[in-house]
Amino acid sequence: MIPLSIPKIEGNESKYVQDCLTTGWISSAGSYVNQFEEMIAKYAGAKYGVACMNGTAGLHIAQILLGITADDHVIAPNITFIATLNAIKYTGAHPILIDVDAHNWQMDLNLLENYFEEQTELKSVNDEIFSFDKGTGKRVRAIMPVHVLGNIGNMNRLLEISQKYHLEIIEDSTEALGSTFENKHAGTFGKIGVFSFNGNKIISTGGGGVIVTNDEDIAKKARHLTTQAKVSAMDYIHDAIGFNYRLVNVLAAIGVAQMETFPETLKAKKFMDAFYRTHLEGVGDIKFQEIPEGTDPNCWLFTFSTSRMRELLDYLNANGVQSRPFWMPMNQLDMFKDEIYITKNDVSASVYDNSISIPSSAGITKEQLETVVETIKTFYEG
Ligand SMILES: Cc1ncc(COP(=O)(O)O)c(C=O)c1O
Repeated sequence: MIPLSIPKIEGNESKYVQDCLTTGWISSAGSYVNQFEEMIAKYAGAKYGVACMNGTAGLHIAQILLGITADDHVIAPNITFIATLNAIKYTGAHPILIDVDAHNWQMDLNLLENYFEEQTELKSVNDEIFSFDKGTGKRVRAIMPVHVLGNIGNMNRLLEISQKYHLEIIEDSTEALGSTFENKHAGTFGKIGVFSFNGNKIISTGGGGVIVTNDEDIAKKARHLTTQAKVSAMDYIHDAIGFNYRLVNVLAAIGVAQMETFPETLKAKKFMDAFYRTHLEGVGDIKFQEIPEGTDPNCWLFTFSTSRMRELLDYLNANGVQSRPFWMPMNQLDMFKDEIYITKNDVSASVYDNSISIPSSAGITKEQLETVVETIKTFYEG
């Protein structure tokens, strides 16, 4: 079976993990953790990086740092991996789901802007201005754009909307290490960005995440809250309800090695993407995800649309090509079906019904790519 997306482990991973084991520095104190967070921050062009045990934990902490509470709304796209929504729910806040753009599958910014124009009002609270949803009366505190599949929507427009309506931006950049919009890296447009390094991401630490920010105070607080909010190195004195969310050294060691080879990994992903786009163009009724002008994506996971998605999915999986459907839209999941959903034509439903992800590992060979393409062509052309 040609796997969907597996990590590429070809550098110093074993050596650095062995170093942790030999020296005994396997837990959350250790130099690889600092090194990894510095490497990620530097690569993304952010001042600070704070490593945490996974992207979901990072998204949770990001919201706490911005003071999001159970009285708030947080905006998210209706097509995302469930962790985005779970992280909002951990704070007790109420998601507002925005349908996605039919072409690039990112949050539909026209719907977002219409929502603010028509369904919110600005009010002053303790000399600060916020947007409030007219229906629920709750404050709309933040937008959490998700750079779905490593693609990025028009961030200039998103920033304009966030400024006009007094919103914070927390970027769910979990899939977007290596992606830029107008040469600025994913995760650095808003106050806080979060990357994930779980098993299927563009680089992996097994499980892991890094929060990036340019705000020193936020970085300090993130480090504090992810390590049980302990105030003294010696005494067990804590000043907040903290979390045991810190990444451990042995996993950060893998991350350091993965970052050392990241330029080649990114190159391999771009080769894979270009190969599929060239060879699948015009095959059956395949439509590619569109890349907005100004975006240079990391080409993390190749996903396309076809009206025969379910049939193709079964065919590929039965013929040695591991493939997966896209995420069920959040409004279709029981837990979120009563959340506010801003849509005109429920584009999310058709993106879900028609989209399929195919093998995209950074280590995929040219022969494997050819096999994937041939198998897809045989399905359509017999
Ligand atoms: C869009 C999105 N958000 C959040 C996450 C959560 O990241 P993690 O698995 O590291 O918790 C992921 C990855 O799984 C993701 O793809």
